Amino acid sequence: MSPNRFLPGGGDEISGMEAFRYRHDQLFCEKISLKQLAREIGTPVYVYSRGALEGSLRNFDHAFVDVPHLICYAVKSNSNLSILKLFRDLGAGVDIVSGGELFRSLQVGVDPQKIVFSGVGKKNAEIDYALNTDILIINVESKAELDAIEARAKALNHRARVSFRVNPDIDPKTHPNISTGLREHKFGISTQEALPLYQYARGLSHVEVVGISCHIGSQVTSLEPFLQAAQKVFDVLGRLQEIGIHLQYVNLGGGVGIRYHDESPPSIAEYAQGLRRFFARKEQVLILEPGRILCGKAGLLLTEVLYVKRSDRRPFVIVDAGMNDLLRPGLYDAYHEIWPVERNASETFIVDIVGPVCESTDFLAHDREIPVTQRGDLLAIMDTGAYGFSLSSNYNSRPRPAEVLVRNNTYQIIRERESYEDLVRGEKGI
Ligand code: LLP
Repeated sequence: MSPNRFLPGGGDEISGMEAFRYRHDQLFCEKISLKQLAREIGTPVYVYSRGALEGSLRNFDHAFVDVPHLICYAVKSNSNLSILKLFRDLGAGVDIVSGGELFRSLQVGVDPQKIVFSGVGKKNAEIDYALNTDILIINVESKAELDAIEARAKALNHRARVSFRVNPDIDPKTHPNISTGLREHKFGISTQEALPLYQYARGLSHVEVVGISCHIGSQVTSLEPFLQAAQKVFDVLGRLQEIGIHLQYVNLGGGVGIRYHDESPPSIAEYAQGLRRFFARKEQVLILEPGRILCGKAGLLLTEVLYVKRSDRRPFVIVDAGMNDLLRPGLYDAYHEIWPVERNASETFIVDIVGPVCESTDFLAHDREIPVTQRGDLLAIMDTGAYGFSLSSNYNSRPRPAEVLVRNNTYQIIRERESYEDLVRGEKGI
């Protein structure tokens, strides 16, 4: 495994801020008019800026240039093959959490020696798949899982490289549904359990313990929890060294937040600066598993206004994207900015923006002031490149939207809009 120090080439990168801009009051993605794109592809459609994706990965990588490191993109945040391929071509590895994510990653030729496998519930078939592929590391979350991996590795006559995921019991101060590093969460092993487990693993014949990992949560918007978690991991590392266990890899997970509304997350430079001191002696390779920070601001969801429904309360703007297309507002009460694709209204109104799905949690924004809009207008749901399409479903038998990747003045459909036929594939009407 060679950690990625410099990514090749100099390309089309731009910042997330530059990816989506108005020109003469029309919203563009790079040099593509979103009105034109919607006319050609229909709505709803996810639109990603290749330049912004490239820019965020290069920026992240550059911040760690003086630390031996490997960036393992968290596939769950956006698992489209074209995005995986783009990051792979730029030198990144992947963090996977299922056999399906391993399959996707191998489809686009990710080097198995840049793949780490997280998650509390790996099935035997998934463990076998990872072992047969010879991925870099399986992140182990319990003794029971370690025993299963030892057994599978023995059966396959393989030696599994593993890390233990420790739960540092740190409050990341993010939404409770996406925090993972507290004692009450199902993730990882406690720092107290770690030492005996490392000693136990040392006695196993088909497991090689090569690292330690942690992940405290997602959309973390202050630096402090990351530093506290790193300190706890390095405390364990120090105690392991005292008993003669030396590890090659320290995986500090993902979780750096982005600005959706009024958050002020640390910059990547600040984040890297904070972590750098732990790696001053360059004894271990730093693995990071960023997801949202790499793709969140590089995508939007384009939707058409179907109806404006006025009542004695504030109006409902009913659009053609629903909670099956974008679950974050309904699931986490998440805030996404909503921009008009054409800026032609001088007045604003305060509305609820809702989808067509038969659930009251099917909303994209509550109590939101937007320029006055009407049937046929287009709206852009911003910052939906991460956990947008990847959390989508077919609920209400709604075909999932298309995905489009824009590069400068061209675009490609990187996932076709689903058809009704797609909806019933594999089903039998018996
Ligand atoms: N590593 C592990 C082990 C993880 O569980 C996650 C995310 C990541 C890395 C990547 O975290 P990121 O850098 O993207 O924050 N659906 C939620 C987010 C769930 C995150 C789950 N784990 C949302 O839409 O906000």
